[in-house]
Amino acid sequence: MKVLVIGSGGREHVLCWKIAQSPLLTKLYAAPGNAGISEMAECHDIKVEDIQGLCDFAKKEKIDLTVVGPESPLVEGIVDLFEKEGLKIFGPCKAAARLEGSKAFAKDVMNKFSVPTARYEVFSNVNEAKHYVIETEMPVVIKADGLAAGKGVVICESSQDAVNTLTQMMSDGAFGESGRKVVVEQLLEGEELSVLALCDGEKIIPLASSQDHKRAYEHDRGPNTGGMGAYSPCPQYSDVQLAEIVEKVIRPIVKGLGSEGIIYRGILYAGIMITREGPFVLEYNCRFGDPEAQAILPRLKSDLLAVMNEIASANLTTQSLEWHDKACMAVVLASGGYPGHYKKGVPIHGLPAAEAKRENAFVFHAGTTKNENGQIVTSGGRILVAAGLGDNLRGARENAYQLIEKINCEGTFYRRDIGGRALEVYR
Ligand code: AMP
Ligand code: GLY
Repeated sequence: MKVLVIGSGGREHVLCWKIAQSPLLTKLYAAPGNAGISEMAECHDIKVEDIQGLCDFAKKEKIDLTVVGPESPLVEGIVDLFEKEGLKIFGPCKAAARLEGSKAFAKDVMNKFSVPTARYEVFSNVNEAKHYVIETEMPVVIKADGLAAGKGVVICESSQDAVNTLTQMMSDGAFGESGRKVVVEQLLEGEELSVLALCDGEKIIPLASSQDHKRAYEHDRGPNTGGMGAYSPCPQYSDVQLAEIVEKVIRPIVKGLGSEGIIYRGILYAGIMITREGPFVLEYNCRFGDPEAQAILPRLKSDLLAVMNEIASANLTTQSLEWHDKACMAVVLASGGYPGHYKKGVPIHGLPAAEAKRENAFVFHAGTTKNENGQIVTSGGRILVAAGLGDNLRGARENAYQLIEKINCEGTFYRRDIGGRALEVYR
């Protein structure tokens, strides 16, 4: 099979890495890819937003299956476009991807199909929103309705914080059109969990559990980011508990949307807070998590390409997935200043030694590119992920941190406490 992977992050690198191991693969393409992906796929400089350009390319190259990494082309309707042209593609259609594209839509769907989620109000009028936050009990969480790369969520401790946040999002356009409408919701407390499942509109195959670390700095301080590190599996939850959570947060959505004629085909990712009252959904994403994918997929024994192809062909026959009995930890190396402003074009040293073929540690590139001298330099906020496999979480952590320490890139940072809380409890 000729396969095209769309995207340029660490998630897409691990997808390429996994797909490249499939006996079904004959040739791998990526658009636009990154420096790491270019080692295993033929990269073409087509932007992920250029869905017509991607469709033309897939047609021209006779691509058998396209796999979409990021959310924006899904929300724009790339799946509908490809399918209209008779091209096979893995991911949900535009109507289903609205679960991620509009937080207000996701909340309404959760309410309709009885999925537990925080109490909320939706506002398009800034004065009404401000009036509400002044009257309501603090803290609250304010979320830009549309896509904001994981950064459009602000926890407000005081009414003044909330009013300022509403001004920034709704009046000053801090997140462009995405923030003109907002969801204001109750703050939930507990442990976060990422639950991802492969879905064909009816059948649901859960992936292994994982936990991301959203805040930029150690001990969960600093602003929200796209994710600073993840591990899998989460020892806090047994397989039975995970299956129960899937029944509460994934099945009702797939079934409910299906009853309205919206077939959810692809990955459905539920970001969950496990509270004292049980699991509550914080958000849905319509794609693999980043960096969750880099912590989950190295543990997967089954052929992911085969399963994705079955789903895209509307013929899912795989019943369940097989996993290596290992833990994996993925630690993000980020540019100084991320998730705010940061420098680009900074040389990354030590990669060859770090990337030398090893069975228990991998570098997955994200914001990397080659400069005119062929040197690998930074090109994004999240630069790369060091992923370590181990017999348990402790071993995985050792391998991940040993790897990231080999990489030298001026002005960058990473969190040293990924998986720390789980390790305190589960030694
Ligand atoms: P979201 O994009 O909705 O998942 O939000 C990003 C991050 O903000 C989540 O992973 C949580 O860490 C945090 N968050 C979002 N909603 C809430 C909430 N209602 N209570 C507490 N934390 C939240
Ligand atoms: N790691 C969070 C996300 O992929 O949305």
